[in-house]
Amino acid sequence: MKNFNIDKIVRPHLLSLVTYDAVNPPDLLSQKSGIPENEIIKLNGNENPYGASPKAIESLNQAQVHLYPDPDQIRIRKAISAYTGLPIDNIVAGAGADEIIDLIFRIFISPGDSILDCSPTFGMYSFCAKIAGANVKFAERDSNYDLNIEEIEKNIDSSTKLIFITSPNNPTGNLVSYDHITYLLEKDILLVVDEAYFEFAKSSVQNLVLEHPNLIVLRTMSKWAGLAGLRVGYGLMHSSATKYLMEIKPPYNVNVSAEAALLASFEDIEFLQKNVDKIIVGRNWMNVELNKINGLTAYPSSGNYILCEFTENHCKTVFGELEENGIFVRKFHTERLKNSFRISIGTETQNQKVLKTIQKAMNNE
Ligand SMILES: Cc1ncc(COP(=O)(O)O)c(C=O)c1O
Repeated sequence: MKNFNIDKIVRPHLLSLVTYDAVNPPDLLSQKSGIPENEIIKLNGNENPYGASPKAIESLNQAQVHLYPDPDQIRIRKAISAYTGLPIDNIVAGAGADEIIDLIFRIFISPGDSILDCSPTFGMYSFCAKIAGANVKFAERDSNYDLNIEEIEKNIDSSTKLIFITSPNNPTGNLVSYDHITYLLEKDILLVVDEAYFEFAKSSVQNLVLEHPNLIVLRTMSKWAGLAGLRVGYGLMHSSATKYLMEIKPPYNVNVSAEAALLASFEDIEFLQKNVDKIIVGRNWMNVELNKINGLTAYPSSGNYILCEFTENHCKTVFGELEENGIFVRKFHTERLKNSFRISIGTETQNQKVLKTIQKAMNNE
């Protein structure tokens, strides 16, 4: 039918959906800014500036790309089991942690259910909730961006099925206390603790999944292992939840290249750990140096990024100055973060250039 109107059959609530604000790749940033691609410093996606393990890159040549991957993810789950110490019955891998988030919505959330988002936080939860037709309730974090338990309690009602807790939180960088998590686990609600930045924080609640069927812990290979482009992450959960995720996920959700690179990365932890350590050193150095600048607050971070908050209208000016120098950081559109941006930690040279550019823009040189 030539004049078929596709809009007519779209689920009505999706017609006005505000889409996820994803980051652009370097070639597009180059095109938009007119700065050569090899001069772009991309610090807007919390990617790993040192890249993947050479063993992971090499493994891509051996991947049997003409065959479908193992739908049971046995090799992947065994490797994650060895890494985390949890049995494979408690592990499900996905095309990034993003896919596990999406799966959680597809399995547990019906239109009209509510989810609780501890804002400001990672945008995928509310984005997926809106696609699912769920209500998103926002329990605003306190002035230090810590969880506000009172706000959370106030926003819980009989329709609340799911609470997302990000630790360390993106974009604010702070960890959630173990006590807050154990307190929330006592509720009759599914709790997803997103530990995408675990390797930079070394703090986890993964040991709680064996005894708490209402806990799912998310992890990713995108950050510490530098595999963001291959899309592979995983969830750690009670075996009663694993069953549903394994049954409902697309059968071949983690592709063979991602599998090969994940296995090779776990064979090269020492190399990857050295890069994680360099990022942590860079993060701590940046935090001290940024806080020396008048008019700028750099929040303490346990991730591979730092949230910078500016006084007056400095944020826009500094953002513009960074862009003119080919440095791309993450800005936000919410009222609370309108004077802030998030910088991913780069290599030592990149960090120095970022710092110099900000100092100059703030007349602090
Ligand atoms: C808190 C958090 N969770 C999940 C993700 C997505 O991870 P993945 O690349 O594995 O989909 C990100 C990516 O930035 C993140 O910041």
